[in-house]
Amino acid sequence: MERKYSNLCSSITLGRTTFRNRIFSAPMGGTDITNDGCIGPKSTAFYELRAKGGAGAVTVSECMVHPKTDGSHAYHLDESILNSLSCATYTADAIRRHGAIPSLELSHSGMYAGTYMTDKSRQKSMNQWGPSETVREDGVQVRALSKEMIDEIAASYGHVAALAKRAGFEMLLIHGGHGWLINQFLSGYFNKRTDEYGGSLENRCRFAIQVLMAVREAVGPFFPIEFRMSGSELFEGGYDLDEGCRIAKQIEPYIDLLHVSAGTYQKGFGDTHPSMFKAHGCNVYLAAEIKKHVKIPVATIGGLNDPVQMEEIIASGKADVIYMARALLADPFLPRKIVENREDEIVKCLRCFTCMAERAATATRRCTVNPLIGRECEGNEVFQASRRKKVLVAGGGPGGLYAAYTAARRGHQVILCEKEEELGGILKSEQALPFKHEMYELAGTYALLARRAGVEIRLNTEVTR
Ligand SMILES: Cc1cc2nc3c(=O)[nH]c(=O)nc-3n(C[C@H](O)[C@H](O)[C@H](O)COP(=O)(O)O)c2cc1C
Repeated sequence: MERKYSNLCSSITLGRTTFRNRIFSAPMGGTDITNDGCIGPKSTAFYELRAKGGAGAVTVSECMVHPKTDGSHAYHLDESILNSLSCATYTADAIRRHGAIPSLELSHSGMYAGTYMTDKSRQKSMNQWGPSETVREDGVQVRALSKEMIDEIAASYGHVAALAKRAGFEMLLIHGGHGWLINQFLSGYFNKRTDEYGGSLENRCRFAIQVLMAVREAVGPFFPIEFRMSGSELFEGGYDLDEGCRIAKQIEPYIDLLHVSAGTYQKGFGDTHPSMFKAHGCNVYLAAEIKKHVKIPVATIGGLNDPVQMEEIIASGKADVIYMARALLADPFLPRKIVENREDEIVKCLRCFTCMAERAATATRRCTVNPLIGRECEGNEVFQASRRKKVLVAGGGPGGLYAAYTAARRGHQVILCEKEEELGGILKSEQALPFKHEMYELAGTYALLARRAGVEIRLNTEVTR
């Protein structure tokens, strides 16, 4: 089969690892992370679904490397928690068996430790450590890391990297962006040190390089190491793209893939996670500019979901790899649909932030357009019903269309009646608003899926008693 999106679908080799395509799944936290830091079966199933959907790599997030000085929304992989190591192995296996490369994100929150902690009781008792002494926006006192602590934390990245490799992960993503500890060192805004870790750009990059050298030492020369950075911090006083390019050049010799994101959680959440009010791929320019300054492959991310746009990004050399987070919640099978030229079946992310809001509110995951998200443990297969029935669905709004689609996949004979002359229900009202176009499009996608599954659709047909 000739592939429409041949660049996106082409393989890429990093270190000695070959990835089946250039569509990678970005880190997206966990849900059932226990207070002692273990990843649970729901999070494993969540990440496994991304692999089933065809992504080239699936990044599991966000493993804190130094529990003594950190604690966040994430889980801690540590040799004292052997249970966690076995859980991590199950997670890596679950990704690998579907042909995706399992990657693990290593991080330290630094001065923002505890912000999203699962264990709220610990949150109050912990200390916050950053490059420099300061008082956080929320009044929390931050203490400056000593040289000994810096050495210890850098060494812990290496220690955990070795454990992650032992657990079966085949790539590591070192989180150097979004305002967390490595970013705090890179940034003149957070880093006011006067020793060899502060001041000049070279000094501000020293901690990142120390970390990367410890990781390399632990995993060996051919194991792919990826570094996530914010191409620009995008806030007043933070580093800009020009400095981002210079940071990238410093980091380049130590890594195999440079992952260029944007902004910080704390000062520019909407830059890091572009909302529906921003253009798709609004951060691609950062990766494209940085790519001109380095020789290693570069990845881009941010509000991407359109195969035509993503293909162009790779074809024109703006980036070598496309990462997506939310788009793969809305449709985990997006990569497979691209590979199989079924892009018209992609259910697009609305960028509505239900995924993030639900995690904070109920410690689970939900997606407005994908009822499976947060229920991955129940399986994503739609099984044939034991008895074929005739099913009548009244109403061609999003709920009716999706119900009809599911019933048809179960093998039923489905008739959907819509009293109006057009499908879509409430979503039709979104047509006029450009930033809500994807909401409007959703009904068309569900209708196409329903029709292809065999649903008979009758318009201008009211269902009476
Ligand atoms: C629900 C959710 C959880 C996330 N958790 C993490 C995380 O643990 N670590 C991380 O580096 N980024 C995390 N991110 C950020 C994403 O990796 C990504 O950078 C961001 O969502 C922008 O990509 P997108 O527009 O494709 O969603 C998360 C994003 C979402 C939506």
